[in-house]
Amino acid sequence: MVLQLVRLRAPLYPDLSISSYQEVGSVIIGCDTPIEDVQTIYLTKESKTSVYLTRVIFEIFFKKNPEYRFFENYKKRQTVLLIGDKALEYKKDYKYVYDLSKIWFDKTGLPFTFALWCVNKDFFLNNKEKVNSFEYQLKKNVKEFFDNIENFELEKSRKDYLKNLDYGFDKKNIEAVKLFAKYLLEINLIKTLPDIRFTDGRVITVDGTQTFFNFEYNEAYHSTKAGAYTESLYKFTLPCKVDKLSKEKDEINILDVGFGLGYNVAVAIKVARENNPDVKINIISIEKDPFFIDRIKSMEIPEILTDEYNIIKNLQPSKIKINERYYNTYTYLEGNLNLLVIVGEGREIIYNLSKENYKFDAVFYDPFSPKVNTEMWTLDLFKVVKNLMTEKAILATYSASLPVRKGLIEAGFKIGLVEPVGRKSHSTVATINGEIPDLPEKEKKRLSTSPLAEPYRDECLCETKDKILEKYYQRINKY
Ligand SMILES: C[S@@+](CC[C@H](N)C(=O)[O-])C[C@H]1O[C@@H](n2cnc3c(N)ncnc32)[C@H](O)[C@@H]1O
Repeated sequence: MVLQLVRLRAPLYPDLSISSYQEVGSVIIGCDTPIEDVQTIYLTKESKTSVYLTRVIFEIFFKKNPEYRFFENYKKRQTVLLIGDKALEYKKDYKYVYDLSKIWFDKTGLPFTFALWCVNKDFFLNNKEKVNSFEYQLKKNVKEFFDNIENFELEKSRKDYLKNLDYGFDKKNIEAVKLFAKYLLEINLIKTLPDIRFTDGRVITVDGTQTFFNFEYNEAYHSTKAGAYTESLYKFTLPCKVDKLSKEKDEINILDVGFGLGYNVAVAIKVARENNPDVKINIISIEKDPFFIDRIKSMEIPEILTDEYNIIKNLQPSKIKINERYYNTYTYLEGNLNLLVIVGEGREIIYNLSKENYKFDAVFYDPFSPKVNTEMWTLDLFKVVKNLMTEKAILATYSASLPVRKGLIEAGFKIGLVEPVGRKSHSTVATINGEIPDLPEKEKKRLSTSPLAEPYRDECLCETKDKILEKYYQRINKY
């Protein structure tokens, strides 16, 4: 099951699983010696999850390495892993019977999830209504079945078995799946930890913090492989040197492009205050989605950011006039924090801010990816962003795209790379005259020779994403 999550990146139906607390009854190891003395175990091929759980039990819990052999047809052996009907039928053949779910529960205090409902990602994205109505029907069926279970002709033991299982998938189940995955990674049965994504858009990222999948852009708000919190810290807050700035200055000004779920802002406030509790923090965020607050309110807030999200959840609706244009905003202005989220089209807001001579010490540049949110990644917009930055300010972005890097250079920035987090590519920092790592020669060469290293352009700051891309492809095909 965890293997499927890693390989397929398939969204799961929320609140549905086949799990058990304590004993499951139908997944057992039968042996003629106590389990600690087992040398060879014969494994059923019927369930990879149970085979992997067996290996976790031996290798992690008991620190043993028995020989594993698979069997095709059941016959009595000294030690076997059996599941389903065979487990129920043949457990009587063995002196010792160990329930795998019970061992897991005793060692971890958590339920074990044997099966989840997941759906092929592409099918889901093209058939959301079908998928949602299937989910509704599944839940209805489970409820109706158990409401009427006493009326079905079924042996009592089977009814008890079914009633004993747990069909939901709550926080405890998620914690258990994550722990199981961690153990599988430790014994090299998987190569990377999975994120856990649901058809309702929720994604539990690899560091345990939650993000969402945005169905308009077909992208998650954060790198699910790096983790939402981790990404904010290592791709934005620290590369922009918020820690250093807050120690050195009495007041810092941050421009946050793409407020989204507010992680970058929350992490920046936390880091700044940890480094200097008295620093005055001014943040202007830009966000086009007028319902961003509702999404944040439905999100599970990471414990480590509780204080910062209490602020974000308390943002108050307001209005602001910038360069003769009124915008709906959300503000928090208390003590030494001034947070303003401006709701509207990013390019226009950036342009209007530049006309009012705003200046920032750090820029978190975090729209969706250049392929789907191209209008926010053009050379022409970078030139305006540059006007908003102090000489030493650093702009940080997760993007490693050649057109983006080339656009930043042609806009007059020097650029540098930031160590990769959760993927192979480095992310990017840009500055007018601040301190950033030198760009490696190899990347300089790639940027000067690759035909793809051609900026996206949008002279009027008004083209559609498709038009910008179309013109980009026309230009690169000429070379
Ligand atoms: C990757 S998410 C940002 C995640 C966010 N920084 C966080 O820490 O949670 C990108 C955000 O940019 C916003 N966005 C995309 N295009 C925009 C535009 N043209 N103007 C303003 N906001 C935009 C999206 O609505 C989305 O909330």
